[in-house]
Amino acid sequence: MSDNKIASRLYPTRIDIPAEAREKIVVLLNQTLAASLDLKTQTKQAHWNVKGTDFYQLHELFDEIAGELEEYIDMFAERVTALGGYALGTARAAASNSILPEYPFDILDGKDHVTALADRFAPYAKHLREAINQTDDLGDLDTADLYTEVSRTIDKRLWFLEAHLQVAEIKGENGASTFKGTQQPAGVR
Ligand SMILES: [Fe+2]
Repeated sequence: MSDNKIASRLYPTRIDIPAEAREKIVVLLNQTLAASLDLKTQTKQAHWNVKGTDFYQLHELFDEIAGELEEYIDMFAERVTALGGYALGTARAAASNSILPEYPFDILDGKDHVTALADRFAPYAKHLREAINQTDDLGDLDTADLYTEVSRTIDKRLWFLEAHLQVAEIKGENGASTFKGTQQPAGVR
């Protein structure tokens, strides 16, 4: 069975959400599961490898964020199964289905790790916000609520990451930044 078929596979269930809607929601949730697993391992990568004068606070912050993502991974996977679907949660499935780019292996400094993570939390946050609307449109307010809960924390974490970068970005000192936010603040670069 191809990954696409497995991602939309449904088991018999008594839940009162129509199968047609559940199939679409399960595919979406499996995309989110892949991105969440990918982002968690990338955040751990930063936790282990960050260096510089801010080492300790970033090492701790990255671990705290990775712990939150671990909880969300379980919540997304179990929402898939609650809807009668099959959760695709292996490292290989995550690697092939994630919307995020691979983490850069050639960075060292805290600022570069914060930038790399912010560049990944932003598209992840966008994906979650789009999923709130999609699951709402499909009539599954419980999944929309799950996405809303996670979205709110991820926006907060994006703030925590960007707060390390914004002074330099406003002053135009952050030449190495790969910041690609869609809502570029006025006056930045
Ligand atoms: Fe650790």
